[in-house]
Amino acid sequence: MGFFWEGLPPYVLSWARQMLPGTVAAVETGTFRGDTSALLNEYFGSCVTIERSPAFAQTARARFALVPSIRVLEGTSSEVLAQALPDAQLSCFIWLDAHGMYDYIGSSTEENPLLTELDTIFAARSSTNTIIAIDDARGLGTQPGWPSIGQVCSAMQANGFQTICIDDCLIAASTDLDADFWNLYQQSRMVEVSALFHVWRAVKRSVRIRQRLDSLLSKRS
Ligand SMILES: C[S@@+](CC[C@H](N)C(=O)[O-])C[C@H]1O[C@@H](n2cnc3c(N)ncnc32)[C@H](O)[C@@H]1O
Repeated sequence: MGFFWEGLPPYVLSWARQMLPGTVAAVETGTFRGDTSALLNEYFGSCVTIERSPAFAQTARARFALVPSIRVLEGTSSEVLAQALPDAQLSCFIWLDAHGMYDYIGSSTEENPLLTELDTIFAARSSTNTIIAIDDARGLGTQPGWPSIGQVCSAMQANGFQTICIDDCLIAASTDLDADFWNLYQQSRMVEVSALFHVWRAVKRSVRIRQRLDSLLSKRS
């Protein structure tokens, strides 16, 4: 599989910024410590994030007490996503991460809220100015209680979105946005190439060790 990003890959953010017209509001389900909320705020200038754990919500509120552009809503995504979504005229980037094989407080068999979240989004927004990114794509159809990747893609298609799976994310954008998925895919591979430079020294070291080992073994035989 090679390298892949866990969580929200940064190249998705720059790509989405280019695709979406005008000001973009960011919405996240599943705040946890708020690291991605901070990233979304940095990229788009605001973020509304939803967390069902009162403890995590409180910690995130404390973390962002001096950042008015980040709003933490406490509750489940099924309860509060509708109120987190911006006005339909405004472009929106939505990061759905309230499920998770890394479900910090829930049981792994708890129902995955993804299809309910999508219904809420489809009811409130048009695909023409919305991009949806879903984390943990590898869990779709493989984790108990999770919808299959086919179910998610069919729901997206029925509502004007086309989808692509890159790294561990399922990304959905409208054909009307002229969404250049090939460009997105290329950017993801560029990250992989640059990641290679990080491990290059380790690769060279293991090649040298292997060469020494081979030469020792050949001397002994
Ligand atoms: C994988 S973590 C989120 C990580 C975070 N988005 C990030 O990128 O740093 C999942 C979070 O979703 C929360 N969560 C789980 N189910 C939820 C639900 N139905 N509604 C809202 N939050 C939920 C969990 O409490 C946990 O904090």
